Parts: sequence; C-alpha cells; structure tokens
Amino acid sequence: MSKLLIQGPSRLKGEVRVHGAKNSTLPLMAASLLCDSTCVLHNCPVLSDVQTSEKILQHLGCHTERSGADVAIDPRSVEQSDIPEYLMREMRSSIVFLGAIISRMGRAELSFPGGCELGPRPIDLHLSALRKMGVEIQEDHGCLKCSAPEGLKGVNIAFSFPSVGATENVLLAACCAQGTTVITNAAREPEICDLAEFLNQCGANILGAGESTIVIEGVKNLHGCEHEVIPDRITAATFLAAAAATGSSITLTHVLPAHLAPVLPLFEESGCRFEIRGKEIRMHTPDRLSRIKNVRTMPYPGFPTDAQAPMMAMTAVANGTSIFVENIFESRYKHVGELLRLGANIKVEGRVAVVEGVGHLSGAPVEAADLRGGAALVVAGLAAQGETLVSGVRHIDRGYECLEKSLCALGAQVTRLSD
Ligand code: EPZ
Repeated sequence: MSKLLIQGPSRLKGEVRVHGAKNSTLPLMAASLLCDSTCVLHNCPVLSDVQTSEKILQHLGCHTERSGADVAIDPRSVEQSDIPEYLMREMRSSIVFLGAIISRMGRAELSFPGGCELGPRPIDLHLSALRKMGVEIQEDHGCLKCSAPEGLKGVNIAFSFPSVGATENVLLAACCAQGTTVITNAAREPEICDLAEFLNQCGANILGAGESTIVIEGVKNLHGCEHEVIPDRITAATFLAAAAATGSSITLTHVLPAHLAPVLPLFEESGCRFEIRGKEIRMHTPDRLSRIKNVRTMPYPGFPTDAQAPMMAMTAVANGTSIFVENIFESRYKHVGELLRLGANIKVEGRVAVVEGVGHLSGAPVEAADLRGGAALVVAGLAAQGETLVSGVRHIDRGYECLEKSLCALGAQVTRLSD
C-alpha cells in the first residue's frame, strides 16, 4: 500500500495540465456498449477507477486498447450481461453500466453496489426509473437480476433528487428505447452534457442536457465515434486549493473555466484573484487567505460536494471562521479527524463543519479514508510545517492522475513510498 511523503510548507509555481474528468470517463465508457462499432475516447485519465471500468468492459466482451490518453473500445463482441461482485466492490459507481447493459443485452445481473466511505449510497432512483421503462428487477441476496422482456420503452421520469448517476443511467437506457423519454429534475452537471454530446455524436437524439428537463427520442442503433473527455473540474479545484493553501500563484491549463463557475467566487472571497484566458486559469493568492463565510454543497450549478474537502483544507489556514454545510452526502467529513491531527481547528455538528483558521499546520502521519478527503490531506500537508505522511493513497489514485508528479512539477516535495 503506497504512501505519499510531503515536505511542507511548499511554495508552488508554474503551470499544470488538468487531466480528463473521471466522472465523465466512467459513463462514457458505459455508453460505448450501446454502439455497433469502435469508439475512441481522447483525454482519458489514467486512474484506477478507469482501469476498473476497462476490466468491466473486457469482462462483458469488449476489446479495449489504451495508447497514452486515448482509449479505443470495440463493443462488437459483447456477450456477457453481468458485472462480477469483485468489480462492483472495486467501484460502486459501476452501477452506471446497468442502463447500458440492459439496453444492449435485454438483461443484466450485478450485485448491489453497497455503501461507500461517504455513507449509504442508495440506488432507488435508478431502479424506479428503469422499472418504469419496462425493466423487471429482482433484488435478492444482494444481487440485482434485471430483464426487459419487451425491450425498453420511453416514459416520463421525474426525479425527486437530481441524481447524477440516475440521470446517466436513464440517458443510457433511453437512447435506443421505443419512443420518447422525458426526464424532469435531471442532474445538470457538466458530465451529463459530455455524455449527451457523446451519445448524440453516436447518433442518439437527446435535447436539453445541462437543463433540468431532458428529452430523449429513442433511435434504432448507435455507431461509434471519437470524443474528447472534458477536463476534470474537481481536480482543477483541488490544484487551486493547494496553491491557495500555500500562498502560491499557479496556472492551470486544459481546463474549461465555465465548469469552475460555482467554485471560483469562493476562492475570490478568500482573497485569490484570477486571470482567465481560453482554457487557462492563472490564480494569484494573498499571503494570508481570508475565511469563506459559507460553503454549501449543492447539485450543479451549486458548489460541488467533491470540492468540499480540498476547500476545507485550504480554509484551515485562512484568517477567520469558515462554515461548511454538506447537503449531498450523509457522511463526508471523514477527513476532519485527520486534519485535526495536522493542527486544524474544526468542529463538526451533523452536516455542518465550523473551521477556525489557524496560523499554521504541523506535519503528521495521516490516513486517507476516501478520494476527496485524501486529496484534502495532501493539500493540508503541502501547507503544514514539517513532514506529512499520507497513507491510503489507493483512494487518491482513484481520481487523481499521478498526483505527486503534478505537484512536484509545481515545485512541491512529494514522494510516493511503496511498501
Ligand atoms: C456522482 O455520484 C459522482 N460520481 C460523485 O463523485 C459526486 O459526488 C456525485 O455525483 C454528486 O455530484 C460519479 O460520477 C462516478 P448522486 P452519484 O446520484 O451519481 C442520493 C467523486 O468523488 N441518491 O447525484 O452516486 C445519494 O445518496 C464522487 O468523484 C439517492 O438517494 O451521485 C446522495 O446523497 C463521489 N438515491 C445524492 O443522492 C439514488 O438512487 C447524490 O447522489 C441515487 C442517489
């Protein structure tokens, strides 16, 4: 199990390229199952979650081939319709393959994704939508046995919550369904737009992605296409938090600034300034950050829950009190205990975390419990005085492409220690 050894405090400088979005790549890979010819995804990040998705596609019968940041997926020899338990355990978001497998094979079998580090991860919205589209689903012994004896039919789906994964599953199931599907209260994240753009390039007929109402006219079949994965807005926010926490000015390249619209104003409230040119964002940071009065996580276009932990690490060394409210997940403050070990002053009460900024943090051994919480510990370690040893790096590797390499390129002293 590898660890990251961080010498702090680090001043960062220079520029860093933001890799392709994990949360776009996974549904795009699922979408390739719907095609009758090869798809090529460009700007595909090298992440363990992406490797798990490749294993799922290969298990189903696809041929996949990676060449640098390009992944070619040939779905023509798909003949399986199940996702083995060990792969579901490896990545709970494998649930996003469900709609695509049922659409392609008429049936699907996978184990209940179960909870994860963020608390229970129900899939009721996914299942009720698919049932409405004509899928018979049996849930027993932790296994989902699904079949669509009469195929999938277009229906009206109204989500009680704009679930990202459930919106993606319905998009994938509806593309080749009989008739029209209308999703109301759909998720509006940029990853939804990226998926819809890919599907339309393959011949689908989707209108309204990015808005709360999406209309999908079922088509007979989809062909392959080439598609560039959008940049990872959460990785971008994480690099900005690392720079802000260390009083550094850096430039991000290959980003889409519009996707960071919910995040940049909070950095500005803490005293950071931005110069935006095309796909580049240059950030200037004050010597001492000001507190951020309120950070409330919301569905897009609100502040993203995935940026909550890295942002909290940054406010731990700001001047004043910052208040966080985590409205999306039940248990997304596992990083707080570890930040306290680094000298942060944070109190959690239910969904609220109150961060009193301190003069400085001090390096210590800490343990990552989840992907974004682990990134927060790295951000804090860069700002802390002395050595920070972050274990549980496997969580971080799920969503950040060789994080230590990017940080060292910005001048940080981060070493990966493998057992
Ligand atoms: C996606 O998860 C992302 N993962 C998450 O990123 C992200 O935090 C989340 O969207 C919110 O933006 C991927 O895209 C692979 P949801 P997802 O369905 O689809 C409840 C990361 O760090 N809910 O929008 O699982 C659920 O419990 C990961 O990159 C139901 O109640 O998110 C949660 O409280 C973490 N029933 C809320 O909705 C359902 O059927 C948001 O879930 C589905 C969800």
